[in-house]
Amino acid sequence: MSVIDWDKRLSIGIQPIDEHHKNLIGQMNNIALAAELLARPNDLAVLLRKLRTDMRAHFDYEEKLMDPLSYPQFKLHRNEHRRCEEMLADFHDKLMAERNFSLSSFLSYVANPFNNHVACSDQTLGDFIRRKSQ
Ligand SMILES: [Fe+2]
Ligand SMILES: [Fe+2]
Repeated sequence: MSVIDWDKRLSIGIQPIDEHHKNLIGQMNNIALAAELLARPNDLAVLLRKLRTDMRAHFDYEEKLMDPLSYPQFKLHRNEHRRCEEMLADFHDKLMAERNFSLSSFLSYVANPFNNHVACSDQTLGDFIRRKSQ
């Protein structure tokens, strides 16, 4: 099953960023699929560690892009990144403590916050970058 389906609504029109988002969403869908196929918590933790690393690298990429452009919503945007990372870390901790994958927690801690961030704040950032480069 997919926890997020990629569609045009998620495309922000900046190619490297769209590629990062597709990759991260693909990893989230793989984690949900692996859990459905009864992967062990330790195996899911390997996938979660990679997701955390790649999510951090992606957020870093966007933040480095925003900084020199004096993006007016930089702080707000960066706070949302931190919040997504914290929730992913909390989910990871919860999985290790409970030794049980909860799909509803994965949606509320990981997939939905990221999906909402891309659909709202990253769209606003994409519009800003496009306007700046015109
Ligand atoms: Fe972002
Ligand atoms: Fe993003």
